[in-house]
Amino acid sequence: MFNLFKKTVSTIEINQQDFGLEMEKNETILQAALRLNLTYPHHCRVGACARCKCKLVEGKVKELTESAYVLSKQELEQGFILACQSIPKTPIKIEVAAVIKKAIDDTTLLAKTA
Ligand code: FES
Repeated sequence: MFNLFKKTVSTIEINQQDFGLEMEKNETILQAALRLNLTYPHHCRVGACARCKCKLVEGKVKELTESAYVLSKQELEQGFILACQSIPKTPIKIEVAAVIKKAIDDTTLLAKTA
């Protein structure tokens, strides 16, 4: 019964790593990755630069905008999507051509030096 109020709607695995990334309703892959303080490559956040592109290995997403004008035909055929324009509809697995890790935030550093 209490699951009715649970915010998590999906999970993401990036480069075969489980970062414990749980999606909130209507959240894009990029928004979730940045909320979790992951070093996910991005720039414009509006589907124009393709810096956030990733390969959808498993699962389904809802794309907010047409990505065909920033991704090549070959990339589209291979399953590439834009993380800033994709909302997972199921648990998904993606591959990103960058090392993704959890960034250390300033508050963590301050706590360790205090
Ligand atoms: S951040 Fe530019 S297309 Fe996604």
